[in-house]
Amino acid sequence: MREAILYLRMVQRIQNREVINLEQEVYEQEAFWNRIMAEHSLFIRGLLDPTEYEFIVTANNFANEFNELTVEAIEALEKTLPLQAVTDESIKATIEIRNFKQQGTQGLLECKIRSIIIPLLGDHVLREANHYLRLLSLFKCI
Ligand SMILES: [Fe+2]
Repeated sequence: MREAILYLRMVQRIQNREVINLEQEVYEQEAFWNRIMAEHSLFIRGLLDPTEYEFIVTANNFANEFNELTVEAIEALEKTLPLQAVTDESIKATIEIRNFKQQGTQGLLECKIRSIIIPLLGDHVLREANHYLRLLSLFKCI
């Protein structure tokens, strides 16, 4: 739902030819996508078979890390933390979760991971991690 609302808002801003405040946009996007990465971690954790203990622990750790990064991005938005430090941490964490999702999606396709996650969902969350990494690399240039 949050992703659909963000998309609609972006389309409306383009239609209205709004002038974008890039710095403000970076803060908001980092808070948004860090939260999405945390949510992905939580539902991956919840859809794994209980015997997949290592993946469950890893997903839980990512959820905690991205929840913290969401708080930090919001603090940066409120100007109480430097954004650059948050962006650097977000890049590092997102590379790691991207690799986790890549490994997980491959494992689902090869029926090596016990879960009720459909491979298409694995592919979707992997694409979003890659999308966020692309945004983060742009943010480093702003
Ligand atoms: Fe999504």
